[in-house]
Amino acid sequence: MSPGSCDNRPALPWREKRASIHRLLGAPQTGCQRIRVYERGFSSNHSIMTQFKNPVREWNSSAYHRLSQPQVTWGKKVLSRLRLRGDELVLDAGCGTGRLTADLLQALPGGRVVALDVSQNMARSAREFLQPQFGGRARVIVADLVDLPFAAVFDGIVSTAAFHWVLDHDRLFRGLFQSLRPGGWLQAQCGGGQNIARLTRRMDALASKADFAPFLAGFPSPWLYQNAEGASETLRRAGFIDIQTSLESAPTLLDDRRHYAEFVKTVIVRTHLERLPVARLRDLYVSELADQAANDDPPFLLDYWRLNLSARKP
Ligand SMILES: C[S@@+](CC[C@H](N)C(=O)[O-])C[C@H]1O[C@@H](n2cnc3c(N)ncnc32)[C@H](O)[C@@H]1O
Repeated sequence: MSPGSCDNRPALPWREKRASIHRLLGAPQTGCQRIRVYERGFSSNHSIMTQFKNPVREWNSSAYHRLSQPQVTWGKKVLSRLRLRGDELVLDAGCGTGRLTADLLQALPGGRVVALDVSQNMARSAREFLQPQFGGRARVIVADLVDLPFAAVFDGIVSTAAFHWVLDHDRLFRGLFQSLRPGGWLQAQCGGGQNIARLTRRMDALASKADFAPFLAGFPSPWLYQNAEGASETLRRAGFIDIQTSLESAPTLLDDRRHYAEFVKTVIVRTHLERLPVARLRDLYVSELADQAANDDPPFLLDYWRLNLSARKP
């Protein structure tokens, strides 16, 4: 039985959840159904899977919306790679506040997008941003990329600046593969290779200083930066074909000290700051990084590297 076809098997537990999935995706609820979901799928209100806010997963979404021009610039290049008919159902995996989801929806005049994020703040901001413009064509859900509740649902998956926050790429790519219909595509970009290596060295040095060591010494990296070969192999293990991966340098110059400090605090060292117990230490940590960046030539340059991923489900 192909994943997208009808079958006459007796009701299985996942079927009980199917009606809410159909409401979520706006798909017809009668006749031959091609949407499958596992029992562990959506909660009964089918929009919030994470019941309690997990601070490490939360973002200051209004600050991110304002500061995310670098991510939006990179993401627009990823969207320009898409070859769309215009009526597809696409997953935006790690949508943030939805700035790029909006561009994706504009390229899909007859299609729909499920925008997914693990952060409730991000999802709420994305909902507020997208639904007045796109109504039911945009659905925003809170879910974890390592526990995707879809099976053979999407024509395509887009993801930008999100996968490096997921430490288990085998599990991530298996879930994405499973979420795609046969023939479905993945176009993504995330941090990779030597991404922010200079900043990371500075963060490591700070973690051993007396002020920060009690909270940050031994704190494992919250990011996984694969290289092109490693990512290609991980996609292949998940079952993908037509795999293309590449690294590109994306040096990003911020305007001044204030912009640098706010950007680094909101986008990069969020989880490190969570571990520091008082505002004085959090301010000191960001200030030390900004001081060092001020002495660089040019000052306030982030040494970003992006990993491009393109693949297809057979
Ligand atoms: C830097 S933002 C990128 C947002 C948007 N794609 C963009 O390019 O502006 C990374 C996003 O990935 C989300 N994210 C990180 N880990 C995730 C996970 N395990 N499951 C779902 N979303 C995740 C974060 O909550 C955040 O919204």
